Amino acid sequence: MPAMSSVAKENLRIREMNIDDFPEVFHIGEQIFTAESFQSLYRTWDEYEITTLFNSDTELCLVAETGDMILGFALGTTVKKHNSPWKYGYLVWLGVRSDIQQGGVGSGLFKEIKHRMKEQGVRMMIIDTSADNQPAISFFQKQGFDDIQEHVYMSLNLSRKSRKKPVKKP
Ligand SMILES: CC(C)(COP(=O)(O)OP(=O)(O)OC[C@H]1O[C@@H](n2cnc3c(N)ncnc32)[C@H](O)[C@@H]1OP(=O)(O)O)[C@@H](O)C(=O)NCCC(=O)NCCS
Repeated sequence: MPAMSSVAKENLRIREMNIDDFPEVFHIGEQIFTAESFQSLYRTWDEYEITTLFNSDTELCLVAETGDMILGFALGTTVKKHNSPWKYGYLVWLGVRSDIQQGGVGSGLFKEIKHRMKEQGVRMMIIDTSADNQPAISFFQKQGFDDIQEHVYMSLNLSRKSRKKPVKKP
């Protein structure tokens, strides 16, 4: 596959994903959502992410392509919160091939999914990413996202033998 540094806007096409795109989308995701860059176990990139979102929200599963090469994808869903009249649009996965990042593909995908969410009555879009994923944070800030809320994840290793603290004798 040729390395690409940028894509001419007129050659970029954003369309709904179809089942023939699954393998390519999966492999692009494997390339960019690596264990090192996405350390949280709460979000793991696997084939079920693609099929589940495709089955529930086909209109919010998009790919960007030039010619017949897929360059990136956006997979989203909508969420209704209990006790809230608002409909939220959750952009679950947004990914662009590493060799063409910063070439406008992410912005194109974002523009289209935002438009589609708005058409579906979404009043607020939400995203989440690791606190150290500065490129993504800058990207979303450029798209107008603000109000960053930090969330703490904790883990307990159950395979490690617990060392009981010695009981102090009086
Ligand atoms: C985040 C991501 C989707 C952005 O897509 P992209 O095609 O590279 O983004 P664009 O070229 O449309 O960038 C638009 C703006 O975002 C910001 N931005 C994008 N990449 C950036 C980077 N590496 N560093 C700093 N700012 C960046 C810039 O403000 C840029 O505007 P500019 O070109 O005028 O400077 C892409 O970097 C990616 O796939 N990252 C890995 C996966 C990921 O982290 N996904 C998000 C969480 S699910």
